Amino acid sequence: MLSYSLLLILPLSLWSCLSAYVIPSDLPERVGDNFIYFGYGSNMLTKRIHIQNPTAVKIGMGILKDYRLDFNTYTERWGGAPATIVPMPGAYVYGTLWEISLSNLDDIDDQEGVHEGIYYAASLPVLLSNNTVATARAYLLADQPKKPLNDFSDDDKVPLKRQPSKTYLQCLVKGAEETGIVPWYIEWLKSVKHNGHVAPDLEQILDLKDVQLNS
Ligand SMILES: *[C@@H]1O[C@H](CO)[C@@H](O)[C@H](O)[C@H]1NC(C)=O
Repeated sequence: MLSYSLLLILPLSLWSCLSAYVIPSDLPERVGDNFIYFGYGSNMLTKRIHIQNPTAVKIGMGILKDYRLDFNTYTERWGGAPATIVPMPGAYVYGTLWEISLSNLDDIDDQEGVHEGIYYAASLPVLLSNNTVATARAYLLADQPKKPLNDFSDDDKVPLKRQPSKTYLQCLVKGAEETGIVPWYIEWLKSVKHNGHVAPDLEQILDLKDVQLNS
């Protein structure tokens, strides 16, 4: 009881610093001193994932079955809706599998805002290109969108809350191309309705200016 109340009064930064040394013993995505991570958003791009997770080593393309890619809420960093994965029978999410040192587990949780309740982590089966299945850590938005993005009959009807920024979408397209994801999926990404916002710092750091979108 005493230790529990102590946790409550620790500042967030100190708590995340302490928790870096606490690796859950039952982490299904753990492989030795590393864990497998499935990036389907900005973390498909090597340069982007290495900003916060320098130990990430690419395994290759991964496919998550029975989920769809979608966007919801707002992130200050990119100036638009961030990506999430939503359970949906028959749908596919393509992404990039990484092997990351457990010493970066807390950094990636931090990047996804796990401690603030923005995303939560799940251990999901992801299909590799050699037809084997890996259990990977992936993050889902706590505030999941209900109506699938593809169900909005035209671009004008996509709510602002469901639109990624232009820079974020360019990052997804660049990461998907770098990973070698199938062309139809990249074409779909390029056609997602974005809010036109440019995040100049990230555009420059990640060299996104010339990434072509369909609008
Ligand atoms: C499939 O690929 C993964 C990642 O490269 C590798 O670890 C695994 O051994 C491969 N499995 C087979 C059966 O080739």
